[in-house]
Amino acid sequence: MTRILFAAAALILTACSDSESTNSAPTATADQAERRSGVLLYRQYCVNCHGSGAAGAPQVGKHNRLYWSHEVEEEGFETLVQEAIHGINAMPPRGNCYDCSDQEIRNAVIYMLQLSAAK
Ligand code: HEC
Repeated sequence: MTRILFAAAALILTACSDSESTNSAPTATADQAERRSGVLLYRQYCVNCHGSGAAGAPQVGKHNRLYWSHEVEEEGFETLVQEAIHGINAMPPRGNCYDCSDQEIRNAVIYMLQLSAAK
């Protein structure tokens, strides 16, 4: 969990410095408004497989806490994010969210790990 919290904290820090450094750019605020939350993306895309285990997807939820904790421990959070972005086996690139940014996929992975209470 520490690792995830750390990643989340790093994200927040990055987001803050982004907005400060690009305040004068007219597109900066628009870009940020378009950044969707992990909850929203998970419910729209990821849950279709990860909620039920469809297509052999590892289920998200506290009952599967050990699986996700193990993945974080063995592969590392960044690897999970990369796999979600590029796809792996039956996991489609970006979970079929074609217009999702890397940042948005990262948000969705964080949310999945939180739902699973992964440590
Ligand atoms: C079409 C079904 C499907 C959808 C939609 C889907 N996934 Fe997956 N996902 C899978 C499958 C199947 C695997 C297992 C792949 C493997 O390791 O063989 C997987 C694995 C993963 C893994 C873990 C990889 C590992 O190392 O075990 C992550 C992280 C992940 N998905 C994130 C996401 C996110 C985030 C979304 C939504 C944006 C998403 N998935 C949507 C099917 C799906």
